[in-house]
Amino acid sequence: MHELFDLTGKVAIVTGSTRGLGKSMAKGLAQAGAAVVINGRSAEACAATAAEIAAITGREMLPLACDVGDWNQIPAFVDQAYDRFGRVDVLVNNAGVNNPDLGSSPIPVTQITSEVFDRLFAINLKGPVRLAALIAPRMGAAGGGAIINVTSFGAYRGGIGLGLYGASKAGLHMFTKVMAEEWAGMNVRVNTIAPGPFMTDMMADAERNLLPGFSDIAAAATLQKRVAHPDEIIGTILYFASNASSFVTGEDLKVTGGMF
Ligand SMILES: NC(=O)c1ccc[n+]([C@@H]2O[C@H](COP(=O)([O-])OP(=O)(O)OC[C@H]3O[C@@H](n4cnc5c(N)ncnc54)[C@H](OP(=O)(O)O)[C@@H]3O)[C@@H](O)[C@H]2O)c1
Repeated sequence: MHELFDLTGKVAIVTGSTRGLGKSMAKGLAQAGAAVVINGRSAEACAATAAEIAAITGREMLPLACDVGDWNQIPAFVDQAYDRFGRVDVLVNNAGVNNPDLGSSPIPVTQITSEVFDRLFAINLKGPVRLAALIAPRMGAAGGGAIINVTSFGAYRGGIGLGLYGASKAGLHMFTKVMAEEWAGMNVRVNTIAPGPFMTDMMADAERNLLPGFSDIAAAATLQKRVAHPDEIIGTILYFASNASSFVTGEDLKVTGGMF
């Protein structure tokens, strides 16, 4: 049974893995045997998280700072991963923001500026698509791999001030399906994880800037009546990254404690 989830000898890139859900995913993938590229915009934070996970797991970590919202930084980022490891078996497009200027402040439709629109979509949608487009053919040439796009329950249901965020995540849902169709022939599986409320900096920002009491409201919206610990994403990422999901592609899985 253990072999189903074993990632020994595999290489994973997890964007936005210096903290929050991405850090938990990187730790889980390393615990399953993978070498992991740790990413965020801060080189110092990447190095610190890489050292921390290496100490816990004994796996090889590569700290690689890159702003995934910058189209032109992405090719060099991918090349550095291949230069180091010679392969990428798992890409997790996890980095994402709610409001790129103001933490998790809401942006009512009437207040959306061209700059914020472009920046949020660059991080949440363009970056993931560019990364996947550069890596999938190389994955395919090496025999296949798994791409996991991290979206949100907010992709399914709107909310005041959440139009840009939800639309960017809904767009990534659609790309998951199109990528799965385009790349099935080269054994590259593409799936989506749509989280509900997890206790990360994004949740703390929402509490501060969006609405005091936000985490209680989010917890009340789940069947389990709670906000999850980031490590509770690990089982789902291991499922999609490993052979445990070998016949699953183009799907999205909500990890929400029960939200409809
Ligand atoms: N937490 C939740 O309840 C929740 C719910 C639904 C969906 N999600 C989704 O889950 C993902 C992770 O969320 P989280 O709560 O873990 O967020 P978080 O705690 O705010 O962490 C975000 C991570 O992404 C990195 N990042 C931000 N902008 C980046 C950029 N332009 N380029 C590269 N890295 C960047 C951050 O590092 P730097 O700031 O140093 O760059 C950090 O490592 C996001 O896509 C989010 O939309 C979260």
